[in-house]
Amino acid sequence: MVSRVIPVDPFDLIIFGGTGDLARRKILPALFRRFCAGQMGNGARVIGAARGEMDTEAYRDFVRDSVLEFDDNAECAAKNLDSFLNQISYVTLDARGDAGWSELAGLMMPGRVRAFYFSVGPGLFGDLATRLHEYDMADADTRIVVEKPFGRDLETAKALNAILARHFDEGQIYRIDHYLGKETVQNLMAIRFGNMLFEPLWNSQYIDHIQITVAESGGVGKRGGYYDKAGAMRDMMQNHMMQLLCLIAMEPPAKFDPDAVRDEKLKVIRALDPVPSGDVVRGQYEGTAQLQGYRNEVESRDTQTESFVAIKAQIGNWRWAGTPFYMRTGKRLRDRASEIAVVFKHAPHSIFGMEAGSHRNILTIRLQPNEGIELGVTIKEPGPGGMRLVDVPLDMTFAEALGDDQTDSPDAYERLIMDVVRGDQTLFMRGDEVEAAWRWTDPIIKSWEDKNIAPILYATGSSGPDDALMLMHRDGRRWREIKP
Ligand code: BG6
Repeated sequence: MVSRVIPVDPFDLIIFGGTGDLARRKILPALFRRFCAGQMGNGARVIGAARGEMDTEAYRDFVRDSVLEFDDNAECAAKNLDSFLNQISYVTLDARGDAGWSELAGLMMPGRVRAFYFSVGPGLFGDLATRLHEYDMADADTRIVVEKPFGRDLETAKALNAILARHFDEGQIYRIDHYLGKETVQNLMAIRFGNMLFEPLWNSQYIDHIQITVAESGGVGKRGGYYDKAGAMRDMMQNHMMQLLCLIAMEPPAKFDPDAVRDEKLKVIRALDPVPSGDVVRGQYEGTAQLQGYRNEVESRDTQTESFVAIKAQIGNWRWAGTPFYMRTGKRLRDRASEIAVVFKHAPHSIFGMEAGSHRNILTIRLQPNEGIELGVTIKEPGPGGMRLVDVPLDMTFAEALGDDQTDSPDAYERLIMDVVRGDQTLFMRGDEVEAAWRWTDPIIKSWEDKNIAPILYATGSSGPDDALMLMHRDGRRWREIKP
């Protein structure tokens, strides 16, 4: 199925950190795909800005290489790459000084949407915001896009919010969590609020527990410098996992609009109970003969940073009291597989007797790969003699059901960048949401630091530390297998 393309107004996107890794891997290829889809007509312009001395021609070569490396649609590249590059220019600029700012200001054109993408470390947010105002580049129609990590704790997140608020209204600030741009993550809302079937059962009366797994098979690779200061808790739990939890647990918003959705997400985060230390497990992967362990990858023998975290979370409200949410995420696990499993309670009484066995429904939403939903239902095992029950899946893989193939499904960044241009903040985090998430995660991290709790080592290619399995076993439950 070919996705419908909604036209957007002419826009300028200025990428600070235009030669950085995120620009190369994600932002520029995403823009090119939108160009191919016809959404960058009307003379839209992309201006890369960074410290490195280069001219526009050299930057276009950089963009060409990045598109060819990270976009696999060769047919589109052959046809459109040159015209796309014509819409790109470059300015050498010093975020902390004045070099390059007048030149950049001279390129601005009135009457079009202007978005500044802060694809730089948070230490530069204040400098960039201030200079944009000093050089008169920001007006009411200006938007800024900021990436995670948005702070490393509540205090730093508040400071960043305060710096940005000095120059921009909340309605102009787009805090990216790329998980919200994923098609399957948006589908969580469609599944929950587009169907009558689930809502009446969506509470602790019918749901035993919910499991959220975001498992990666890769290690930290070249990002060790950043990751070792963050760890799985700051890198994944505070943001991506938290967003998944919100979408699965929130009350139905009155409408699909930015503040209605974000108000409901915020209520979930605020209702989270503090987590006792016994309900958290942190791990770190060991190496194998072929693959380096975490410590070797980050080149720090005695690092205490976690590459895995599992948490049993409880939401203290009427809908969810008594239904735990088990969340786990980690690197170098058995497979790359992310899913949410909603495990319903057993039927209150079995009319079929003990021999029929114990069964229950599980609704699984596969986020990636092999995106789809599966509902486990119990039926009679075929054949004569007695009533034996068996669980079978009603399985819907989106690619099959929609006649789609993976190349048609837009990357999260494509969707999110176009939402910035359209001025739609629904899939972006609001400042209070980010702060609330830190307010919940900070005490967990602090207790590790205070008690000097070291992560438990786990084998590369495993499901994480055994203690994470115990987190569920002791409640008479078990994790689903990590498999795509
Ligand atoms: C990023 C994290 O935000 O998300 C990475 O910093 C992680 O450590 C990545 O690997 C996972 O994203 P995705 O889209 O590959 O699931």
